[in-house]
Amino acid sequence: MVEMIATVTLNPAIDHTVYVERFVPCSLNRAADSEYSIGGKGINVSKVLAELGISSIALGFLGKNAGHISDELKEMGITPDFIEVPGNTRTNIKIIDRSNAASTEVNEPGPWITPEWLNELKERVLYWAERCEYITFSGSLPQGLNEDIYKELIQIAKEKGARTILDADGESLRKGLESAPYMIKPNIHELKNLVGHPLDDEREVMNVCNEIISSGIEVVIVSMGSKGSIYADSKGVYRAYPLELDVKSTVGAGDAMVAGFLYAVDRGFDGESTARFAAASSSCRIISDFKRIREFYERIRIERWQ
Ligand SMILES: Nc1ncnc2c1ncn2[C@@H]1O[C@H](COP(=O)(O)OP(=O)(O)OP(=O)(O)O)[C@@H](O)[C@H]1O
Ligand SMILES: [Mg+2]
Repeated sequence: MVEMIATVTLNPAIDHTVYVERFVPCSLNRAADSEYSIGGKGINVSKVLAELGISSIALGFLGKNAGHISDELKEMGITPDFIEVPGNTRTNIKIIDRSNAASTEVNEPGPWITPEWLNELKERVLYWAERCEYITFSGSLPQGLNEDIYKELIQIAKEKGARTILDADGESLRKGLESAPYMIKPNIHELKNLVGHPLDDEREVMNVCNEIISSGIEVVIVSMGSKGSIYADSKGVYRAYPLELDVKSTVGAGDAMVAGFLYAVDRGFDGESTARFAAASSSCRIISDFKRIREFYERIRIERWQ
């Protein structure tokens, strides 16, 4: 059993969705309904872990307006250990027009992180890395942080003996790879960005995974949205085909995959079963029902490719 898992979300968000009957720009619109949800990729991983019965520590930065996030996480059985910084956690506003389902979005930038706050975060990563077996680093960076931040944090965590998981994009992913995290979960777009050319053939995706594995990263899962996923480690490569589901929302499907992966390695699953469980967890996320995880785990079609 994993002693503990920590998730790091450097740039959490409050998602505020407002529904209007018909959206008219430059005029007063009245909300028919509205909902708030707390988000950010590491927080999403912690939430799915909680669904799967695994507790975790959630780290990162929260602004003055986001104290309730910690309270909500506690209610889910997650231990928050966020650093409170001046400024506000970003709110991402989405206005949905019910007449045509069109959406209008406004995303805030989030707080500016000073070197002093960053040092505090490094201290906490160091502290939890000594106590946890796994630490995940997920998502975009807040203002003020350099693209080599994940590279640095992974190194700190590895020195303390933790296994690190990186789910990032662009330069922060590229630099992060230099510290050889234990596992990465790029989606296909992030992987294309990384290699700098299209990856139209799935066998080519497999070859890229093998190259990444030979550079010292132990597990790669490439998620391909509605096309499923490819899992690779040094012992084998598996292609997981998607289930046909009544999709509610694909938001956070990749984060659920990371949580499913952690559950599987916690239970000591082999590569094929881990690939299967990670895919099952993402399938539960998109229909918003984790009670069906066993069923999906059995139903997912897996092929061994190597
Ligand atoms: N439309 C879909 N139908 C069936 N399965 C899906 C669909 N979309 C996503 N999935 C499942 O979820 C997994 C992860 O999805 P995706 O590749 O979109 O992740 P992502 O882009 O990292 O998402 P996010 O970053 O928002 O969490 C897929 O590999 C697949 O198993
Ligand atoms: Mg993702």
